[in-house]
Formats: sequence, structure tokens, C-alpha cells
Amino acid sequence: MKKIILGLTGASGGVYFLRLAQLLSMQEVELHIIASSNGEKVLQYETGVSLKEQVKLWGGNGAEIVLEDNHNLFSATASGSSGFEAMAIVPCSMSALAMLAHGITETLLTRAADVMLKERRTLVLVPRETPLSTVHLKNMTELSQMGATILPAMPGFYGRPRTMEELVDFIAGKTLDSLGIENTYYKRWEGKYEE
Ligand SMILES: Cc1cc2nc3c(=O)[nH]c(=O)nc-3n(C[C@H](O)[C@H](O)[C@H](O)COP(=O)(O)O)c2cc1C
Repeated sequence: MKKIILGLTGASGGVYFLRLAQLLSMQEVELHIIASSNGEKVLQYETGVSLKEQVKLWGGNGAEIVLEDNHNLFSATASGSSGFEAMAIVPCSMSALAMLAHGITETLLTRAADVMLKERRTLVLVPRETPLSTVHLKNMTELSQMGATILPAMPGFYGRPRTMEELVDFIAGKTLDSLGIENTYYKRWEGKYEE
């Protein structure tokens, strides 16, 4: 069974996390969720959702789900030997980007992502901020050069989305693509131009 880690930080855009976690919970995967305390707070503020309560609800969807403690560095997710294949941080704060770009790993979230980088496994970062400062851009460049996929929360409009759900699914679907999970949650460009 595929072992995947999903991280949540305190950037705006917890809706992307909620949808992605819901879609992953319907897959045959072992899903470990790691949230920063700011991530939980911003999620609750923006969506009214309590992460702990929501994880219980996803539990019935099929996947094996573990809600990790961000302060527990003894977790399996903190070690390369545990065999997690891929990790996504959705949304990824500029603070988390800075920590990762410089190897600072005091929390489980940053340690687990650092493990993905050192093991050269899949790490997908979904940053959300605007405008971006030079330091934000430099940190993204560093992480891209280290092998991470930088997948900004920038939905495309070529599928002519009509609802917020479609915009959210664009990012959730693209993130699943990068995690190596086939999906049809967003409208792919088919090369047909209509006037
Ligand atoms: C309502 C709210 C929205 C925020 N939005 C963003 C954002 O879009 N991007 C970002 O980098 N930080 C944002 N922040 C700031 C982060 O939460 C803050 O930098 C925090 O230290 C990140 O911590 P974490 O990476 O441990 O979750 C926001 C904070 C609040 C309260």
C-alpha cells in the first residue's frame, strides 16, 4: 500500500488541503497527516472545520489515516527508513518554505519534508502568498533545485471553471498528478481551440 504524508501549514487555502485529504482518503493508501498549530488555526478560521473532527469523518472512506502530532519527532514519518513514498504540503506557508530551504527541522512537518528531500523522494509544495518577495522566490528556487515540485495554488482558467469547487479541484487534481495518483478531478487541456 502506498504510504503518503500530507502536511498542512498556516498559509491561506485550507480548502485545498480539505479536498486533497478527502480525495486521498478514498484511495488505497496509508495517509499520515501532519499539521502545524497555525495550519489548524487558519483552517478553522477560514472553513470552520476542526481538523481532528474531520479526520474522524475521513476515516470511513477506505484509507488508513493517522493524524500525527507535529511535536512527536519519534513518529515513523521522521525517518527515511519508514518508506513513505511521497509528501505534499498544502497549503505551504512562506515560513515553512524558508525552514525547508535551509534544513531547519524542529517540527515533525519540516523533518518529514526534509527526509523526502534527502531521500530524493517526491515532495510537492503548494505555496500560497501574493505578492512574492525575493526571499520567497529564492527559497522556492532552492527547493526546486533540491528536487521538490513547486506547485503554486494558481488554478488555471482554460477549463472555464464556474464554481469554487472546480477551482479547488484543479489544484487538488494537479497535486495528485504530482504525487503519482491518476485522477480525473480537473478538466485537462485537450488541444481543441473553439472560437
Ligand atoms: C488568516 C491568516 C492567513 C495567512 N495567510 C498566509 C498565506 O497565505 N501565506 C503565508 O505564507 N502565510 C500566511 N499566514 C501567516 C502564517 O500563518 C505564519 O507565517 C505562520 O507562522 C506559519 O506557520 P507554519 O508554517 O508553522 O504553519 C496567514 C496567517 C493568518 C492568521
